[in-house]
Amino acid sequence: MPANDHPIGVFDSGYGGLTVLKEFVALLPEYDFIYLGDNARTPYGTRSFDVVYEYTLEAVTRLFDEGCHLVVLACNTASAKALRTIQQRDLPRIAPHKRVLGVIRPSVEEVAEMTKNGHVGVVATSGTVASESYPIELEKWSGGRVKQTTQEACPMWVPIVESNVMDTDGANFFVQSNLCSLFKKDPLIDSLILGCTHYPLLIDSIRKYVPSEGVRIIEQGKIVARKLQEYLQRHPEIDENCTKTSGRKFLTTEDVCFFEARAEQFLGYPIQAEKIEL
Ligand code: DGL
Repeated sequence: MPANDHPIGVFDSGYGGLTVLKEFVALLPEYDFIYLGDNARTPYGTRSFDVVYEYTLEAVTRLFDEGCHLVVLACNTASAKALRTIQQRDLPRIAPHKRVLGVIRPSVEEVAEMTKNGHVGVVATSGTVASESYPIELEKWSGGRVKQTTQEACPMWVPIVESNVMDTDGANFFVQSNLCSLFKKDPLIDSLILGCTHYPLLIDSIRKYVPSEGVRIIEQGKIVARKLQEYLQRHPEIDENCTKTSGRKFLTTEDVCFFEARAEQFLGYPIQAEKIEL
């Protein structure tokens, strides 16, 4: 990408955000995108608020240095633990005209429209669950349509995806036991939010162990892409600062060869990455 380009930044602790980037590129192919995976420090889901905030701010600052005017935290854990502080405390100080968005609010708005009986389930990392972001945001933004939100922390799911062992007995065991525990807490759940951008990679296993075919499963990629498109239409002042030459750039804090091989599995096409330090 030319040095004076202004790509949209997409950040995740590892590979999970690639499930979101893939949908961004499909819906908004002309825009420039830069992806940053903090693979060296993944997972974030078991880390404290302070550490997730510190790591996320480092990543956002780096993406601003790369020319981004808009950054999407394609990571629920970072959205839950760092987004608000960055928006309210850091942005006015370091970059008042730049914007950082998350993935929780778009998912909440979608499920509020989708649920029929108001019983929503959320599977997410321990950090996202402990933050209570989903129950709080669902209460705030569902207009009373969501009556009960039940959460289940799934601390093994991200390591399973990061280690590329999704199609194994071990992976099935953890998916089954977490879903069993969730639906035992509320058997009436009719809509299930995959509240972690890594989880779509486990969709086959998740479908197998969701107790009824009537349960709607909400994957975030397409929803967040649609909301980003609407956001850019509503905010021409931000949109005009996003360059559109279909440029793609990938940064990782881990080994480049490893990242390139895994990213190709997520995206379905080969990419070239660059190693950085945060
Ligand atoms: N993809 C991140 C999320 O959506 C994974 C978090 C982690 O690194 O544990 O929460």
